[in-house]
Amino acid sequence: MAQIVGCVNTSHVPSIGKALAHGLQQDPYWQPFFKGFHPIHTWLDEVKPDVAVVFYNDHGLNFFLDKMPTFAIGAGKEYVNGDEGWGTPNTPPFTGEEELSWKLVNHLVDHDFDMTICQDMMVDHAFALPLKLLFPGGERCPLTVVPISLNTVLYPFPSARRCAALGKNVGDAIRAWDSDKRVLIVGTGGLSHQLEGERAGHLNPDFDKQFMDSLVRDDPNWVTQFSSEDIIEQVGTAGLELIMWVAARNTLAGPVREVSRNYHIPISNTAAATQAFAPR
Ligand code: DHB
Ligand code: FE
Repeated sequence: MAQIVGCVNTSHVPSIGKALAHGLQQDPYWQPFFKGFHPIHTWLDEVKPDVAVVFYNDHGLNFFLDKMPTFAIGAGKEYVNGDEGWGTPNTPPFTGEEELSWKLVNHLVDHDFDMTICQDMMVDHAFALPLKLLFPGGERCPLTVVPISLNTVLYPFPSARRCAALGKNVGDAIRAWDSDKRVLIVGTGGLSHQLEGERAGHLNPDFDKQFMDSLVRDDPNWVTQFSSEDIIEQVGTAGLELIMWVAARNTLAGPVREVSRNYHIPISNTAAATQAFAPR
C-alpha cells in the first residue's frame, strides 16, 4: 500500500519566486526564511517521496468570483504554472499522478465531500513555489502531483473543522491506494497576514505559535474550535490560509515527530513559517 512519508507546511509569498529566480537565498532579507528548508532537504533525501499531494488556495487564477468551488481537486495529466505573482513564469508543467487523483476523487465523494473535479486546472504561486522550495535545482518538479484547492477567497469559507475532516479522508484514501509510491503531503499559505484594508500589515505571532504548537500534538485540532470569522479576526483575512495546514496535518494518522520549524517576520507583510512532520 502507498505510504505517507510526512507533511510539510509553508508560507507561499509570491516574491519567493523572484528571490529564487535571482538566487537571493543568502540575502539578509531572505536568509531567515530560506534557512527553514535546510533540515527539510536533508529529511527529504532520507524519505525519498515520489508523489506530492498539495493543499493550497487558488488566488483568482483558475477559479474566480464567478465560479468558486469550496474544495477542488486536480485529475489531470499535467498542471500549468500560470502565475507566481510576477508575470507568467516560463517553467515546465507539473506532472499529474492521475491514478491517485481518481482514487481520491472516488473516496472523497463516497465520504460526502462534494469535490469539484478538474481535469484541466492551472496552478498559481501557492502551488508552484512550495514545490520549488522543497525540490530546488532542476527545472521540472521530480515528483508527480495531486493539487487540492481550498477556497479562502470568497465568503463563505470552509471551516477549519471541515478542512480537518477533508485531510483525514485524503490520508485514509492514500493509505488505501494499492501502490508502492511514497507520498509527501504539502500544505501552503499563512501564517498570519492581511494584505489589504484598514488592518493591512496585521500579524499575530502569539496565535501563530499556539497554532504551530498544536499541530505537533496527538490531537492537532485545537484550531477547529474557532469559526473562520474568529480565525480571520486573529490572523488577518489572508491568514485564514492556515486551513491548508490543518488539512495537510490531518492526513497523518497517529502521533507525529516535528522534523523542523521556522518562523520569521516579515516576508512581504507575512509571518513566513515552515513546519514539517513525520509519522512517529
Ligand atoms: C502575498 C501573497 C500571498 O498569496 C500570500 O499568501 C502572502 C503574501 C503578497 O502578495 O505579499
Ligand atoms: Fe496566499
